[in-house]
Amino acid sequence: MDMTPFEQSESSVRGYCRAYPTVFASASNARQTAEDGTSYIDFFAGAGVLNFGHNDPRMKAAMIAFLESDGVAHSLDTYTTTKRDFIEKFRDVVLRPRDMDYRMQFTGPTGTNAVEAALKLARLTTGRREVVAFSGGFHGMTLGALAATANDAFRQWAGVPLTDVVRLPFETSPGGDTAVADYGAALRNASSGLTPPAAFLVEVVQAEGGVNLATAAWLHQVQDLAREVGALFIIDDIQAACGRTGSYFSFDGMGLDPDIITLAKGLGGFGTPIAMNLNKPFIDDSWSPGAHTGTFRGQGLSFVAGTVALDYFTDDVLMSEVATKGAVIRDRLEAIAAAHPEQDWEVRGRGMMQALDTGDGAFAKRVQQAAFETGLLIGPCGTGGQVIKLIPPLTIPDEDLAEGLDILDKAITTAAGVA
Ligand SMILES: Cc1ncc(COP(=O)(O)O)c(C=O)c1O
Repeated sequence: MDMTPFEQSESSVRGYCRAYPTVFASASNARQTAEDGTSYIDFFAGAGVLNFGHNDPRMKAAMIAFLESDGVAHSLDTYTTTKRDFIEKFRDVVLRPRDMDYRMQFTGPTGTNAVEAALKLARLTTGRREVVAFSGGFHGMTLGALAATANDAFRQWAGVPLTDVVRLPFETSPGGDTAVADYGAALRNASSGLTPPAAFLVEVVQAEGGVNLATAAWLHQVQDLAREVGALFIIDDIQAACGRTGSYFSFDGMGLDPDIITLAKGLGGFGTPIAMNLNKPFIDDSWSPGAHTGTFRGQGLSFVAGTVALDYFTDDVLMSEVATKGAVIRDRLEAIAAAHPEQDWEVRGRGMMQALDTGDGAFAKRVQQAAFETGLLIGPCGTGGQVIKLIPPLTIPDEDLAEGLDILDKAITTAAGVA
């Protein structure tokens, strides 16, 4: 396999390819096949993009038909038939059944674009600068989102000060149980020197941060404080939504009422880019026409595939599979942790985002390598990459799931043997 063109000509910044040193040639549902014919089970799914697998046949057929009919592939934010179809379907399948009243803002096509737009809208709406973000939070690589991202491994490359963010411990971090209450008390104290923030930006399940789960009670505390001090409550659901945790949104059933919800990754269904914020109408009214623009906001292929993807949410079939398969993954991880009682490993997760916290980044990296060498793609996350996160496509066949978990189990044993 010829990797020379990448190694000679592609930027040093490339990352995932170093953990998966092969050349992928094709992919179907939960498998990718390399140029040399090696088949890999994909428990990484494009970092949480491919919830419906690689090359979903229904989406592919709709995209081919769209291309063959000379549909409008690129449209800025002009009106197109495909965008109308997407908007109507999203409204009918996701918003109306939940009685949610939001406007859809298509931003530049990646998650970080959605977060930038949300932060800007919060600052515009409130006339305030600071945003509260949490330890372990991951929100993207552009400056505003990077300022809200906690991990120093990413922050150190910014090159300019990352400002206007107040950092509080996430619920599961040290001090996280009292931090929001303490911050609220300080804001109420006229001599604290603090000014109220524009927004609280939070993930319900911190994905890149190590699969850390917030409780509904803690999230309500954050939301209540936001309301009390006139700040917006923003949920970054870029990685945890679109069915990943067992329902469309990660916060479904928690009784929360976010002012802005950021979505990207799985929204386009097929893996082509699209990002969209759901803004409460009274907040969305802060925008003037064209106040936040971007060339790639009208992604025809993503609208087409994203509309088909919403079919997965018109009944309970896929979400009950997520519950079943999520339990299979969790049971296996718990068995693995129990088989290594000398290690203090913790299993965490919701739906089909499950993880084994090994407490040791070097070990998790060895597991990733051993898994790759035996046909499984996984991606560590969390501080120092110590958490082995499993996010296979929600559509993964049971046999592939079982085989992938067997490979993982062996990879862990192999890595544990290499001190
Ligand atoms: C919760 C969350 N927010 C934002 C982002 C940034 O998205 P993107 O990489 O598409 O810019 C990510 C990416 O992993 C994410 O997990």
